[in-house]
Amino acid sequence: MALLEIKKAGDPVLKEICKPVEKIDKRLRKFLDDMAETMYASEGVGIAAPQVGVSIRACVVDVSARNNSDADKKSRYDLINPVITYREGSELGEEGCLSCPDLFGDVERAQKIRVEYISRFNKKKTLEAEGLLARCIQHELDHLDGKLFIDIAQNITKGRKNKD
Ligand code: CO
Repeated sequence: MALLEIKKAGDPVLKEICKPVEKIDKRLRKFLDDMAETMYASEGVGIAAPQVGVSIRACVVDVSARNNSDADKKSRYDLINPVITYREGSELGEEGCLSCPDLFGDVERAQKIRVEYISRFNKKKTLEAEGLLARCIQHELDHLDGKLFIDIAQNITKGRKNKD
């Protein structure tokens, strides 16, 4: 595996609408593993392909390190061509982003979602998520449409407001 360079806000790749993944092969799986390694090394809970300069619809999420409840403990998800097909409720919560170092802000997200995606082994999957996992998935999917959380957040501050 290898660490990838994380693109920072202001890089045009972060503003692109990403293209669907067409071929799921060893090369893509290696790329997903590299994304995951980069995310863990930076203590992130999610990372999207455009954040490492590749404009395709793929992201990796793992909220297990930052989650207090047992509900979301299934750990790492590799989401290829993900689409949110159901949303319920709404919740304001703090977010940060590996592409916006040291910035935090509150973002309104659906509390519960259903997401359909293709797995790293080319299987159609459905995932129901709520709370932090749902928030993280919505944040990463925004990246695939060229959106950053700082464009929609309220009360943006330098540094975390609520240290855990
Ligand atoms: Co982000």
